Amino acid sequence: MKKTRAKGAHPTIPVTRPTLEPYGMYAPLFEKPIQSGMLTTHAHVADFEKRVAKYLGVKHCVAVSSCTSGLMLVLKGLGLEGEVIVPSFTFAATAHPLVWNNLTPVFADVEPGTYTLDPTSVEKHITKKTSAILATHVFGVVCDVKKLQALARKYKLKLIFDAAHAFGSTQSGVRVGNFGDAEVFSLSPIKVLTAVEGGLVATNNDTLAQYVRLGRNYGDDGTNNTLFVGLSARMSEFHAAVGLRSLAKLPTNLKNRQTKARYLRAGLKKIEPNLRFQIIPPHTTTTHYIFSIYIDPHVLGYTRDMLFDFLATQGISARKYFYPPLHKQTAYAEVAVKKGSLVVTDTVAENVLSLPLYSHISKEDMDRVLHAFKEFTQNQHAH
Ligand SMILES: Cc1ncc(COP(=O)(O)O)c(C=O)c1O
Repeated sequence: MKKTRAKGAHPTIPVTRPTLEPYGMYAPLFEKPIQSGMLTTHAHVADFEKRVAKYLGVKHCVAVSSCTSGLMLVLKGLGLEGEVIVPSFTFAATAHPLVWNNLTPVFADVEPGTYTLDPTSVEKHITKKTSAILATHVFGVVCDVKKLQALARKYKLKLIFDAAHAFGSTQSGVRVGNFGDAEVFSLSPIKVLTAVEGGLVATNNDTLAQYVRLGRNYGDDGTNNTLFVGLSARMSEFHAAVGLRSLAKLPTNLKNRQTKARYLRAGLKKIEPNLRFQIIPPHTTTTHYIFSIYIDPHVLGYTRDMLFDFLATQGISARKYFYPPLHKQTAYAEVAVKKGSLVVTDTVAENVLSLPLYSHISKEDMDRVLHAFKEFTQNQHAH
């Protein structure tokens, strides 16, 4: 019988929440643009870009209105044509910018442990029409950058990373932001680094950086002459102000996430020793942007959806990221997929569940998640 939660027992635990500071920390920064009347793409934006570039160790960092608009500009700026290989196990906004640029998304499979783009599958999908690979650092876990870079070199392809989840992730001590031709971050409300909304394009390519700088402002070179068809994708001073505060807090927030992810993982593993987690490859660190578990129904005897439903009755908000995968979404129904080419994607999308984790989640709430999971597994194993 389905258990229902007693009304008013506990507030719902959200799957994620932005970690913000008291208003007084933002007020002096908000005051500046109000006093100067310079509301967008001014001193705070320039300061934010400079600090981010320094933090990442990358030559250029251009602030834009979103990761989506950043990707749209990068793809256009690189002059891509034809087909671009992209994962299907990702958020829709990874592939949407391809279609907006008249590029054809070609879905390749992901690795079963990390859920990131599988280089072997990528190579199988390369044709004469392929111009680039666009890979996602899934949930903050860094892609197999070396293998993807080798493929890009071998087939003379551009390599772009959707780094929406990965501001602060590293590989061999190098921060995400330094890989491929460009990496694009999201600063939307629930990202570890947030500017309320926004995006960042990180690149060492001078020409591309300049293109994105002009492109976020219609393509205008400053003389009212548009050099190309750009977007309206600037970042406001108020967004940059929130971004600046979030950047200052990033090391603490990343550390808290790491400690909390470790606590949750140990607690869950104790309850269900056969539970699987996303693999964090050696020599890499992750932001733990999303904390996921993998429910293998053949091993555990229950499904991800059963757990999802039970948690909902306990006032615990979990998420089925990324389900359905892109090749099963209406917007991509026309994209041809070879039978059997996305087997791992389909399995991972059906079995992965994201549990609540954010920088300031309390121990009490994490214990509530663990307690609910324990109750669920006991019910299942009793049958
Ligand atoms: C992988 C991925 N790419 C892109 C985006 C879109 O980011 P934005 O809302 O900043 O455009 C998201 C949003 O969460 C995402 O998860």
